[in-house]
Amino acid sequence: MQVAVIGANGGIGRELVPRLAETGHDPIGVVRDESQFGAVRERGGEPRLGDLEGEFAPALQGADAVVFTAGSGGDTGWDKTLLIDLWGARRSIDACVAHGIDRFVMISAYNASDPMAAPDAIRPYHVAKRCADDYLDWSPLEATILRPTALTDDEGTGQISAAFDYRDADGDEIPRADVAQTVVACLATADTVGETIRLFGGETPIEDAIRPNN
Ligand SMILES: NC(=O)c1ccc[n+]([C@@H]2O[C@H](COP(=O)([O-])OP(=O)(O)OC[C@H]3O[C@@H](n4cnc5c(N)ncnc54)[C@H](OP(=O)(O)O)[C@@H]3O)[C@@H](O)[C@H]2O)c1
Repeated sequence: MQVAVIGANGGIGRELVPRLAETGHDPIGVVRDESQFGAVRERGGEPRLGDLEGEFAPALQGADAVVFTAGSGGDTGWDKTLLIDLWGARRSIDACVAHGIDRFVMISAYNASDPMAAPDAIRPYHVAKRCADDYLDWSPLEATILRPTALTDDEGTGQISAAFDYRDADGDEIPRADVAQTVVACLATADTVGETIRLFGGETPIEDAIRPNN
């Protein structure tokens, strides 16, 4: 499957592209700076240029699935939260609908389930993530929404704890590598289509953790 990764140069994106290539997919690494092309190729991806604040839809051409793992990051203002985390995500969904790309995996965030429960300082970010998630949920796409708790750059363990959104849940921070591996596992099964799943560090093998009745 051709899988376009929006945010391929980010922490999760860098972990995801090689895992997609290793599992027989053809990853497209969408980045906003041509200087990142070499790094995408080294990880087994086909680099394409796409800026969520400008033109990016052509970068998705030919894709069977899209993973949104871009983000404005903690060092920018709320203007970028709106433009990238909310509007960029919505434009990605619109582009998939327009181009007949059915499968979409959204990397959201734990507190998007209840933005009012997020600390004041990052509540607007979680509101943006939630609004993007809702837009995806209401779209005709075959969507999986993943809401990881705080991310780390620790080595992946292949094990997580997952909570389908209707259940109360809390848990440990999670390595970006394990979130990337969870995306690969979600793309391998239709079981997670239509599901919103909160992700934590944990001890359940990823393929088992993402089964809806785990
Ligand atoms: N940090 C956390 O603890 C946490 C927790 C839960 C969920 N999340 C979410 O998880 C996802 C991945 O997080 P991360 O920390 O791995 O990401 P990250 O390292 O911050 O990477 C984000 C990527 O988005 C790209 N990007 C930003 N603006 C863009 C634009 N206008 N057009 C195209 N690409 C753009 C950046 O490009 P450049 O490389 O060019 O800057 C970067 O590669 C994000 O959606 C984030 O909101 C994060």
